[in-house]
Amino acid sequence: MTFSFKSIASWSLVVLILMQFVPLKRINPPVISDIQLPGFIKSSLKKACYDCHSNETRWDTIAYIAPASWLVSNTVASGRNALNFSELKIQDIANKQQNTTKIQKVISEGSAHQQLYYLWKPETCLTDKERKALVQWINQYVQ
Ligand code: HEC
Repeated sequence: MTFSFKSIASWSLVVLILMQFVPLKRINPPVISDIQLPGFIKSSLKKACYDCHSNETRWDTIAYIAPASWLVSNTVASGRNALNFSELKIQDIANKQQNTTKIQKVISEGSAHQQLYYLWKPETCLTDKERKALVQWINQYVQ
């Protein structure tokens, strides 16, 4: 049996269409305790981190088109699992050295943390000013 380009293309199309029906969780659970922070720190985190580390994810159009949507919903789920600013109090950051050092590391890594995302949405990258402010903010909690 030989496969013509046309038959491969049409089967691919069918598979692509079927993929769209795989149910995914794209929900924003209620914000339990949005972390209290100074304005500039908050807005920087909101811009660069909240899509994966809060319950206030801005779901892009791409989040609705399989198979990209699978990657997006998976990333958000494991991001929220690792750190969720909507379910965190400032004491949780201050009290746990492991939290502070991890956040410090990610901030200084820049877009190396989740490269694909920052490439896709360059407007969410931290500016130098924001990065400096965040480093200063987190440093006060690192013993
Ligand atoms: C595109 C989604 C996405 C964005 C945006 C994002 N993260 Fe993450 N982050 C993840 C995922 C997924 C993980 C868990 C897997 C891992 O450690 O890479 C994670 C893990 C972490 C961890 C835990 C690391 C560890 O070693 O356990 C910290 C801290 C963190 N992110 C901070 C941030 C900060 C701060 C920002 C904003 C400057 C940010 N992230 C932006 C997806 C994201």
